[in-house]
Amino acid sequence: MRMILMGPPGAGKGTQAPKIKDKYCVCHLATGDMLRAQVAKKTALGREAKKIMDQGGLVSDDIMVNMIKSELATNQECANGFILDGFPRTVAQAERLDQMLKEQQKPLKHAVELQIDDSLLVSRVTGRLIHPASGRTYHKVFNPPKEHMKDDVTGEHLIQRTDDNAETLKKRLGTYHAQTAPVVSYYQKKGIWSGIDASQEPGAVWKSLLGVFGEEK
Ligand code: AP5
Ligand code: ZN
Repeated sequence: MRMILMGPPGAGKGTQAPKIKDKYCVCHLATGDMLRAQVAKKTALGREAKKIMDQGGLVSDDIMVNMIKSELATNQECANGFILDGFPRTVAQAERLDQMLKEQQKPLKHAVELQIDDSLLVSRVTGRLIHPASGRTYHKVFNPPKEHMKDDVTGEHLIQRTDDNAETLKKRLGTYHAQTAPVVSYYQKKGIWSGIDASQEPGAVWKSLLGVFGEEK
């Protein structure tokens, strides 16, 4: 399995990707999670990225491409394949990914777009809770943790992302439509694109994904 999972903020990329990872034993590389790890470590990149993320903009293509390149080369979990979540986000990133994979003779199999109307995303994003260490995601209403504000596995405290407010979401959606939507046409032209209805409940979205992969429903 070598695929990218696309979709606007809150579409469900981080919710579905771990299930694909478990089923196919591949790595799940989420560029947003990687950047948040840099922010938590207070590295120079993290400080710069935090400003951009809180404004709903995009970190530079060079930084993101190098991050993915190095992870694909060194992460043992990627030996069987990968799911890229949140990357590529510009046509330039998509072209450079293609080049990288061509050199390794490991072309992409699927580019799946989680399709959902912007109006449904506000409640998803503003109600999200995350466990920063693992990237596990919950929702105050749609997927609450067993114990208030605590991770189900470790019992550690859950937090809200600083970019998960209605104002920043509006900017993130603007960025998505302007810079990431063209990536959809890029993969449509290559014949590996599939779109699925991400407004369904998570179990139904998972079934649709299995359909794309040609698995039994
Ligand atoms: P990133 O972390 O990638 O954020 P995003 O793309 O905005 O996506 P989200 O993580 O918000 O949404 P998701 O689709 O994962 O939704 P989730 O499954 O959590 O990027 C953050 C920032 O980093 C960017 O803005 C940018 O600045 C920078 N960046 C990252 N990659 C970059 C790149 N390649 N180039 C440049 N800059 C980059 O679900 C959301 C909520 O809804 C959860 O609470 C969940 O429980 C709930 N939910 C999920 N599915 C359902 C469902 N079916 N029904 C009901 N609730 C659901
Ligand atoms: Zn995510």
